[in-house]
Amino acid sequence: MALAAKESRQENLGDTTNMKALLSKEPGPPSTMVMEDIPKPEAKKGEVLVRISIAALNFFDCLIIEDKYQVKPPRPFSIGAEMAGVVEAVGEGVEGLAVGDRVCGPVQAGTAREYIAVHAVVLSKIPEGVSDEQAASISITYGTSYHALKDRGELKAGETLAVLGASGGVGQAAVELGKIMGAKVIALASTDDKVEFAKECGAEIGINYSDVDVKDALKKATGGKGVDVIYDPVGGDFSESAFRAIAWKGRFLVIGFAAGPIPKIPLNLALLKGADLRGVFWGAFTMHDPKANRQNVDDLLGWLADGTLKPHVDSVFPLEEGAAALEKIAARDVKGKVLLRVSD
Ligand SMILES: NC(=O)c1ccc[n+]([C@@H]2O[C@H](COP(=O)([O-])OP(=O)(O)OC[C@H]3O[C@@H](n4cnc5c(N)ncnc54)[C@H](OP(=O)(O)O)[C@@H]3O)[C@@H](O)[C@H]2O)c1
Repeated sequence: MALAAKESRQENLGDTTNMKALLSKEPGPPSTMVMEDIPKPEAKKGEVLVRISIAALNFFDCLIIEDKYQVKPPRPFSIGAEMAGVVEAVGEGVEGLAVGDRVCGPVQAGTAREYIAVHAVVLSKIPEGVSDEQAASISITYGTSYHALKDRGELKAGETLAVLGASGGVGQAAVELGKIMGAKVIALASTDDKVEFAKECGAEIGINYSDVDVKDALKKATGGKGVDVIYDPVGGDFSESAFRAIAWKGRFLVIGFAAGPIPKIPLNLALLKGADLRGVFWGAFTMHDPKANRQNVDDLLGWLADGTLKPHVDSVFPLEEGAAALEKIAARDVKGKVLLRVSD
């Protein structure tokens, strides 16, 4: 099955007008996605045409194909909102990028396809020595977590940071970045194996939240003081329990709701601790404040280049097996990033 799909991809390489794309054509589970040949795009003014090597997936790709995400692209669309690849053509007016450059970046239009024409400003050159897998992994998870901790959480060296879902995409990035920023990181996850992984990524303390009261565990981990910054991409019942363990003047970062239910937190808890509930919406931030985002991207790429950051790749699936990749994310069976190999 995978072999047949690979042969078909090789045949397609001789075709200069069409490309392979993994498409969502109707709302439904991952199995509803189909591989099709569609016309290859062209780079218009201000755009570059990128031959994608790696498309990186995120939890929201599971939601978007079922029309359960806040963004609902017109169909047919491809999953994958970040990628690494090589510039194949440059449109009129593009500066700073040339044919053959290795590039990475977030691309809302869907990267589970062989080519994409994208506005040059969203792309960055991949630093020397950095693999496509690592470069493709950095845009959204690290971009979100860095924006959350730096711009929204105002995390300072010496503070405590609790990360829920600490072995997942954004969670692992938050653990790593929290450590780099000098915080004492407390990782929370649902299995001992995931907790151990988060500790390998830089957490000082690990808590398996499937068998403890989160509030009690966080109070204990901070010697009764409470946590300065809480990073929550999980939601559900954990959010309120964690917020009850926030320190005086703490900041609770609302990242996402992977567990499903959107929690309703009693506001008296914020009053009692002089604490802040702070929303984080990285995609909107990149549009509202592109200059600050560019600085963040440069920081992240610098750390990637000198080895300070080490994105963990959970697994790489061939493009044709994108459904299995999404099923792995939905099954909560991921440590770090899940990627699709689109071309060699
Ligand atoms: N605000 C923003 O700008 C922004 C940007 C990117 C992503 N997000 C959001 O952040 C959340 C996490 O994204 P991600 O890509 O890091 O996802 P991920 O890699 O799948 O990680 C999510 C983590 O949530 C936990 N979880 C708890 N219940 C779950 C369930 N029913 N299904 C799946 N996971 C569950 C899992 O950890 P345990 O098993 O250890 O509990 C898992 O590791 C999503 O809601 C996403 O939409 C927000």
